Amino acid sequence: MTFLIHFKALLLYLIFSECVFGVPLDFDQQKRIKWGLLKPKTSIPFQDCGSEFDIVELNISSCTELPCQMPRGTPVNVSTMFNDFGKSPNLLKHRVRWDIQSVKTDARVTPDPCFEKNECFYEEIEGTVSLATVFVNSNLPLFIGTMDWEVMDDSDERVMCYKVPIVITP
Ligand SMILES: *[C@@H]1O[C@H](CO)[C@@H](O)[C@H](O)[C@H]1NC(C)=O
Ligand SMILES: *[C@@H]1O[C@H](CO)[C@@H](O)[C@H](O)[C@H]1NC(C)=O
Repeated sequence: MTFLIHFKALLLYLIFSECVFGVPLDFDQQKRIKWGLLKPKTSIPFQDCGSEFDIVELNISSCTELPCQMPRGTPVNVSTMFNDFGKSPNLLKHRVRWDIQSVKTDARVTPDPCFEKNECFYEEIEGTVSLATVFVNSNLPLFIGTMDWEVMDDSDERVMCYKVPIVITP
């Protein structure tokens, strides 16, 4: 009984601290991993540029180190896990641009828009997962830059924005 009360208190504290500070504290994260409440996350580092949703994890299939390698003319899988704070959008619209030496080039993404029925986003216990494939334009110069990714919801409101350092490779 006492254990349960302590456990509930710990949970409330963890939830509360996350709401207040936005990002989970390292200590809490370690504790939650230990308690089996959270899997360790292996996100690719990214720069958030004003997301409404909380991006918890980002995976890019071609990326093992920074800057992420983007082989010209190939499809690259990008998945994110995010907390939508109960907003549950019906669809996600992507806008992706390569920013190479301040020249922005639109990228093609599929499926776009992404509807839940297309299985490109679904809810898991730890958050909502979004899956997309971006095509690396074959005419991009072989330079370092960023991949700028924006996601809009049903009402065209921007809910996610992140930038990842990339390098275009042959
Ligand atoms: C991307 O995802 C598709 C569909 O799940 C899969 O068939 C393909 O092998 C993936 N590609 C890479 C490079 O991981
Ligand atoms: C990211 O990759 C890790 C390791 O393969 C996997 O466990 C996790 O579920 C992936 N997350 C997303 C959002 O795709």
